[in-house]
Amino acid sequence: MSFIKAGVIGHPIHHSKSPLIHNHWIAQYGLSGEYKAIDIAPEELKAGVQKLIEEGYAGFNVTIPHKQEIFKLCEQVDDVAKAIGAVNTVVVKGGKLYGTNTDAFGFIENVHQSAFGVDFVHKPAVVLGAGGAARAIVYALMEAGAQQIIIVNRTADKAKDIAEMNTDIIRVDAWEVREKILRDAGLLVNTTSLGMTGKDALEIDLALLPKDAVVSDIVYAPLMTDLLKQAKSRGNQIVTGIGMLLHQARPAFEKWFGVLPDVTEGLERKVLS
Ligand code: ATR
Repeated sequence: MSFIKAGVIGHPIHHSKSPLIHNHWIAQYGLSGEYKAIDIAPEELKAGVQKLIEEGYAGFNVTIPHKQEIFKLCEQVDDVAKAIGAVNTVVVKGGKLYGTNTDAFGFIENVHQSAFGVDFVHKPAVVLGAGGAARAIVYALMEAGAQQIIIVNRTADKAKDIAEMNTDIIRVDAWEVREKILRDAGLLVNTTSLGMTGKDALEIDLALLPKDAVVSDIVYAPLMTDLLKQAKSRGNQIVTGIGMLLHQARPAFEKWFGVLPDVTEGLERKVLS
């Protein structure tokens, strides 16, 4: 088998956990290849990507700040990436780039594997935040059958923009009413950066949230955010943020290396340490 090269492009990129994840799988499955973190400044994107093509890369992940700019360099971008408005995974074929986005898959896989009996199909899903992650998560929920999604965000216009994906299913409410709308929810997801180490706290009282609702946080530093601690202490099932990061990497790995890898506790421990 030939040596397969893949990587992640971003700027900065040294903090990326992706090399750890993909190189773990390369070793686990006995494959011949390597996954590198590649720093490409915004003004160097085209030349940097061209270099990867010339070096024979099978593909690469794309992170901040290139997730939108990479669209223009792709020969084709699939429907998922178009709906989410960002490409996070590229496959190189015949010297051309094909873009997709695996964040929606990562979110849903993580929720389904971590929370037993989660119901966002018959009960509303509440999404806090309206950034890039929120868009992928709202898309994922709709694809998985959600009938009612409520987005609350400090900046209402950004939430309205996401709601344009499907106004029959998605409703926007004010950030100030985030506690009241929890009354019938089946799922609550924090997609904001609030609660992350070094960021402001996420202020929310879960008193009205049904006990059988699932609470998910995309923040994974710390892994047990205040939101998840509060949810756990009142008996709600919780889904931590590290799983989305691990699961979104799986379909990308499969595209380049031909194996759909597993997320194991060993890998999770390694990424968190
Ligand atoms: P990403 O694209 O990674 O999701 P982002 O676009 O920076 O990140 O989005 C961060 C989210 O956290 C946004 O919903 C942001 O709210 P705004 O759209 O109003 O900016 C939310 N957020 C960040 N700091 C916040 C704060 N102090 N209070 C409320 N929401 C906050």
